[in-house]
Amino acid sequence: MSSVATRLQPFGTTIFTEMTALAVKHNAVNLAQGFPDFDGPQLAKDAAKAAIDAGHSQYARMFGVPKLNAAIAGAFSRRMTTAIDPDAHVTVTSGCTEALPATFLGLINPGDEVILFEPFYDSYRACVALASATPRFVTLRPDASGRFGFDESELRAAFTTRTRAILINTPHNPTGKVFTRAELDLIASLCRHHNAIAITDEVYEHLTYEPTLPHISLASLPGMWERTVTLSSLGKSFSLTGWKIGWAIAPPHLTSGVRAAHQFLTFATATPLQHGAAAVLENPGPIVEEYKSLFRRNRDVLAAALTGLGFRTFPSDGTYFIMADHSAVSKRLGATDDRDLCQKLIERCGVAAIPPSVFYENREHGKAFVRFAYCKRAETIHQAVHRLNSLQ
Ligand SMILES: Cc1ncc(COP(=O)(O)O)c(C=O)c1O
Repeated sequence: MSSVATRLQPFGTTIFTEMTALAVKHNAVNLAQGFPDFDGPQLAKDAAKAAIDAGHSQYARMFGVPKLNAAIAGAFSRRMTTAIDPDAHVTVTSGCTEALPATFLGLINPGDEVILFEPFYDSYRACVALASATPRFVTLRPDASGRFGFDESELRAAFTTRTRAILINTPHNPTGKVFTRAELDLIASLCRHHNAIAITDEVYEHLTYEPTLPHISLASLPGMWERTVTLSSLGKSFSLTGWKIGWAIAPPHLTSGVRAAHQFLTFATATPLQHGAAAVLENPGPIVEEYKSLFRRNRDVLAAALTGLGFRTFPSDGTYFIMADHSAVSKRLGATDDRDLCQKLIERCGVAAIPPSVFYENREHGKAFVRFAYCKRAETIHQAVHRLNSLQ
């Protein structure tokens, strides 16, 4: 019998741990978990090493090393008409992964309702459970063009008198969707009407590929700064996922909730890494544009190969990921669902992907899909394509 507390029993081991272990066992090319297979900027590493040498080894300030708070506020200010105060509005956390439960535990009461779009990043569902809240789901589905979207009436119906928050992840993992201005306007008007707060996960904020679909922070929309907690992190944009430097930006009345929980979750985040993060955020240079060009090319190479194999790929306008419908391929391989297909891809051709049904409350909704990560060196993508072609 499991001794895991009942609130966490439904969630088991994350799919990333499971698929990465299987990928290692079969020496597979890992297009499962979303992390680059190349190092982050030298500038960040040098600054973190210098911080260690300079003796920055004790606890940092609870809500962040001042120069990092200032760098985060400076970058976010460029999108906002409200001035962002580094000390009053920014809280540094141990990755967005910590910012999420800090926000939920600090601002959501037991019994409150929280609206999630499905498919959802798996920690959201667990955060709702940790906060003893009730989730309501709005399903993203591909339209005729293949872009994922939601039904307006479904979203309107998800708001009730108990709604405390809606969580929006844009650019969106796993679909690669970038929420449009019109979609965000609708969400904003519903938040204002129902007096709900918005929690936005913007960890892929710099990784958008279509000029017509730029990233928009919900907090920058009229009347939204006062009711939005904007979460993001360093890892995805700067290929430093293992550093776990994240942050929450919000007005003081919401920041107080985030900090009330953060102080008891981790209290503070690794000091020397905050110095390294500040250095790269102060002076990002062209590195993110370089990563973006690589990822855009990888996306196109992978999408073409998958289409050639019989997958139906959906446009990925942002993030590290491309979703595909695997029904035709699974029929050929005798795979029964997304999990079975991923198992077969690892065993038969040595390529690991993620079965996205775990990102759906109703797993049936995600069974036909598979998610591939393209945030890798070009050689890795070519090797994966070479291996996948053995399925032909
Ligand atoms: C949508 C989303 N949010 C949050 C995270 C975690 O962010 P961090 O590495 O900063 O903890 C991830 C990582 O995969 C993600 O895809």
